[in-house]
Amino acid sequence: MKKERIDKILGHMGIGSRKEIKEFAKKGLIKINGAVIKSSDFKVDPESDIIEYMNSVIEYREFIYIMMNKPQGLISSTDDPRESLVIDLLDDYYKNFKPFPIGRLDKDTEGLLLISNDGKLAHDLLSPKKKVGKTYYVQVMGYVEEEHVEKFKEGILLDDGYKTLPANLEVLVSDNISKVNLTIMEGKYHQVKRMFGALGMRVTYLKRISMGELLLDLTLEPGEYRELREEEISLLKRI
Ligand code: URA
Repeated sequence: MKKERIDKILGHMGIGSRKEIKEFAKKGLIKINGAVIKSSDFKVDPESDIIEYMNSVIEYREFIYIMMNKPQGLISSTDDPRESLVIDLLDDYYKNFKPFPIGRLDKDTEGLLLISNDGKLAHDLLSPKKKVGKTYYVQVMGYVEEEHVEKFKEGILLDDGYKTLPANLEVLVSDNISKVNLTIMEGKYHQVKRMFGALGMRVTYLKRISMGELLLDLTLEPGEYRELREEEISLLKRI
């Protein structure tokens, strides 16, 4: 990794502002490879140099990868002064990495939301070319039957004239309120609701349960989150 200023690195790790880190350096609280450095513009390679603050080694990391079970009522954008944001649920430690949701969910949608500061992964997961499948558990008013499965397979003409890519509909329960799993390869605005809307059916509950091969951890209650495991990160990076 290329060398970076120590104040930038320690700032990224949540140790303090640039100004504060300058003071910490002056006070001799920062060591690089065992030697005190007095200047906060000193350059280090965070992967090979040993960085200490107040005699504790700082484990540097560039990226964070979080899986959240998004609750209803919060929005996925990173800045909206009038609304409560999913990002606000994160500990300050994570907020410091300036993470953002990868692929939005509506305010009233629950389920799997990836939150990271890895721009390349976000780009790959969201790129229409990559056709990453996203599966939603849906409750919808009306009987969902074989004819609907066929229509979803052909692609659905939305209200704006766009015809969706083929989608896979699995009927779990066909009833007054049907329960289905729907897998789509794109992420158009309100796509699942609009696909059912085009067939005259209203979605009453929507929850994302997977993205690519990554499954929502069912032990996470709405509003809870955890870091992805190494093997889960690899699943996503293989996309
Ligand atoms: N489709 C929707 O309609 N809403 C979501 O939140 C996600 C997919």
